[in-house]
Amino acid sequence: MKIIAVCLGNICRSPLAEGLLRREVEAVGLDWEIASGGTAGYHVGKPPDPRSVAIARAYGLDISGQRSHKVSKEDLDYYDLVLAMDRKNYQHLRELAATPEQQAKIQLLLDYTNLSEEAGPDVFDPYWDDNGFDGVYRLLERAARAVVNRLAD
Ligand code: 4NP
Repeated sequence: MKIIAVCLGNICRSPLAEGLLRREVEAVGLDWEIASGGTAGYHVGKPPDPRSVAIARAYGLDISGQRSHKVSKEDLDYYDLVLAMDRKNYQHLRELAATPEQQAKIQLLLDYTNLSEEAGPDVFDPYWDDNGFDGVYRLLERAARAVVNRLAD
């Protein structure tokens, strides 16, 4: 199984999703490939936002080694599951997808994990809100667990 988490810049939300998914996958002993990417290329090659690095570190997770990557059409072939953080990311990914097979891999994370009824459809973008990172981390931690539970069944 190969999974890629996708947000806009690949510096705030999806690096946390990548780190948390990897931790959950390793915790249940699965050898899955986990990655993340952004629909925009503003930050390609850069490490995650220091606020994401800090909140992850506060919870014992190191995401500092990640580097921002822009999602490509090839990614939509390579990965089995493409998890969009919000509806805009989802829409951009659907526009990037060239085939029904690629389209079928794209899922809105909180719908896929049945968390949207409680949390809404979107993982809030904390880029403009320093106080948003803790809530995003905690939501993504639950979502990562739910993804692995759903797929590992
Ligand atoms: P992300 O957050 O999509 O969660 O990585 C953002 C990162 C960068 C920008 C916006 C959102 N930006 O405008 O540069």
